[in-house]
Amino acid sequence: VNIRPARVDDLMGMQACNLHNLPENYTLKYYMYHSLTWPQLSYVAEDEGKVVGYILAKMEEDVPEGDEPHGHVTSISVLRSYRRLGLANRLMIQSQEAMATVYKAAYVSLHVRKSNRAALGLYRDTLGFTVKDIEKGYYADGEDAYAMRLSLKHLA
Ligand code: ACO
Repeated sequence: VNIRPARVDDLMGMQACNLHNLPENYTLKYYMYHSLTWPQLSYVAEDEGKVVGYILAKMEEDVPEGDEPHGHVTSISVLRSYRRLGLANRLMIQSQEAMATVYKAAYVSLHVRKSNRAALGLYRDTLGFTVKDIEKGYYADGEDAYAMRLSLKHLA
């Protein structure tokens, strides 16, 4: 399985992977916006030409005065039969490095369901994210989100 920057012709494969894996879905236009605006931040995991995992990421756009520039992971997922191979970890690290080096991001943020044990294991235990806040009823079905962060200052 190869990890490489996402291209515009990957976006439909990324969207298909997302639809398989998550209830949070996005228009193709939103994938396109990420890819055209921050082409270095989104990656795919590809096996024999098929997208088997992706990270869709961006820089936060409305940064309040005084806050530092930071990246945001909009969505990450890996097809079921490709899980626990380290792909999500590799996708996260690639994107985080580009956030820090290309866009001088001080940290990366994301939201995750409180009940998402696999993703929490990845973010907290493997990558070192911490919980910054709890956003009550963040998801469409009413579940709370953890707002998590990881400093990228060591990569600057
Ligand atoms: N249970 C507990 N810990 C886990 C699990 C699990 N099922 N899966 C991964 N982890 C943790 C482990 O610490 C693991 O390290 P280890 O295998 O050495 O123990 C570490 O995360 C890295 O695992 P990877 O193999 O890199 O993760 P994987 O490629 O399997 O992808 C992911 C993890 C993306 C969460 C996958 O399970 C998935 O696609 N889930 C459905 C979609 C999803 O929930 N996406 C995240 C939503 S939040 C957001 O997008 C911002």
